[in-house]
Amino acid sequence: MRTVATDAETTPYLVDLSAQEIRRRLPEALAIYVDAMGYPQGTEYHRAPMWSEHVLRPGWRGVGAILPTEESPLVAVAYGYRGARHQWWHQQVRDGLLRSGASAEHADFILADYFELTELHVSPSAQGHGLGDALTRRLLSDRPERSVLLSTPEVEGENNRAWRLYRRLGFEDVLRNFTFAGDRRPFAVLARALPFE
Ligand SMILES: CC(C)(COP(=O)(O)OP(=O)(O)OC[C@H]1O[C@@H](n2cnc3c(N)ncnc32)[C@H](O)[C@@H]1OP(=O)(O)O)[C@@H](O)C(=O)NCCC(=O)NCCS
Repeated sequence: MRTVATDAETTPYLVDLSAQEIRRRLPEALAIYVDAMGYPQGTEYHRAPMWSEHVLRPGWRGVGAILPTEESPLVAVAYGYRGARHQWWHQQVRDGLLRSGASAEHADFILADYFELTELHVSPSAQGHGLGDALTRRLLSDRPERSVLLSTPEVEGENNRAWRLYRRLGFEDVLRNFTFAGDRRPFAVLARALPFE
């Protein structure tokens, strides 16, 4: 007999991912990342050591979305951690702020007490149903930091789902058309005050 999937069977549910769980699901999580970002297959091998190191950082938190089927596949993943001066991303953004004319005091104020939203990816087949919004809110709930910062590729007219999501959630410009060392693509750095309502 053919069974018809009900909403309860097809609607992903959100879970907190422990460091142990994301390590276990790393191939799945990286496959979502490669698919969602449209990166060439094989990119996941370069990213695996980086994601594995990130889980060890102070203040790391991860969330995911899982389909309620027998295989419980992951369909979305997001994580971040507490920003700190010795981190590469922090140093790049600080340099960018100084180069854009900000004073050292202003740069240090922006980077004083923040959560870096490092990765946020929803499988293409699961996009467009509010999962990105729900994951972001869960990841940022009850954080002790004063703000959340992220970087995202620049897109003509801010016309993609990531930009619409971040603007809808109240993220504002910190840096625009910024290039990180070793990557020619322009990025925006965005921030939002916490707590998240
Ligand atoms: C960016 C990304 C994480 C957003 O996730 P998502 O689940 O697709 O996004 P949202 O939760 O905002 O929902 C997307 C759309 O669904 C709509 N939607 C449908 N049902 C919804 C609901 N119940 N609640 C909220 N939004 C809903 C939203 O209005 C939104 O429309 P819009 O994109 O036209 O503004 C995801 O699209 C993605 O992985 N993109 C590729 C990778 C990427 O760019 N990552 C970020 C890099 S920094």
